[in-house]
Amino acid sequence: MERSKKPAAIPVSPTIPTPQVSISQDNSRITASLPTGESVEVLLHGATVISWKAADGRENLFLSSKAALDGSKAVRGGIPLIFPVFGPPPSSHPTTGLPQHGFTRNSKWEYLGKSSSESGSLPSSSGDASVKLDFGLSNEMLESIPSEWKNYAFGITYSVVLNREELETSLAIRNTGDKTWEFQTLFHTYLAIDDISKIKIHGLESSPYIDKVGGAKNSSPSESPISIASETDRVYSPPSAGQAITVVESNRPKYELTRDELGDVVVWNPWLDKAKGMSDFGPEDGWKRMLCVEAGSVSRWNSLEGGDTWEGGQRITLL
Ligand code: BG6
Repeated sequence: MERSKKPAAIPVSPTIPTPQVSISQDNSRITASLPTGESVEVLLHGATVISWKAADGRENLFLSSKAALDGSKAVRGGIPLIFPVFGPPPSSHPTTGLPQHGFTRNSKWEYLGKSSSESGSLPSSSGDASVKLDFGLSNEMLESIPSEWKNYAFGITYSVVLNREELETSLAIRNTGDKTWEFQTLFHTYLAIDDISKIKIHGLESSPYIDKVGGAKNSSPSESPISIASETDRVYSPPSAGQAITVVESNRPKYELTRDELGDVVVWNPWLDKAKGMSDFGPEDGWKRMLCVEAGSVSRWNSLEGGDTWEGGQRITLL
């Protein structure tokens, strides 16, 4: 029998897909993905981003097939974080005695949590759903620091923001003690490319640089986009920090790098012999498929007084 007063259907609101975040069973890595398919994976060792995939599954970061992912050494690939010294520490400095590139890439970070649909610390151009992962490291968390650095107090918050076409990484470095200290920092980004011989880097043409191959020589601007045809290890200090750097492969723009408070850009490719000499580098011809374009503040020391915070970051956009 037809009822005259049927109960009204309860309206069901459509489920809006949201970014997903998961922690591996062994608590060693965090993976985040967007409803549209992009993903990022961060190893707590070094808070190293070890994978950043586009929606179609394409990997944007090079990770050595021999990289140690068990915390026994810094990761060869992805985005290792460099702090408080870039390269070998100078003599007679508080960083003397630290390992090359400092200790952050070799320390176990804490996962602080996630937030979704944030636009990140840098202005976002996508406006779509995004996910932000935060990581923390402080001096109390370090097992041992073999230098004057053991007298310094710090707290670092590292944020990784995944947008549809972009990955942002940013640091807030706080001096939580009362002694002033100096630091350098850098995102050691290993970009995945198909063929190093087809690469041109635009945006550093008017920049003087220090050429670390064969001794640290000051070199004049090249005046043309950079191509890589041998071992390359250069520290560029572009006159304008706002200058975007574009990596072009086979005449097609591939990545754009923009920087906030990071005045230097290191361009590194070890080429055949250096790659062979690295026990954690693989496959043997992997150097043809990687290019490090590293945004940092490394050509001088940044001084941070007790209670002060330094903030800086980079954004890599897929073109
Ligand atoms: C680059 C440096 O940033 O890192 C190079 O400019 C260095 O000089 C390279 O060789 C790799 O360093 P590491 O310590 O990871 O082997």
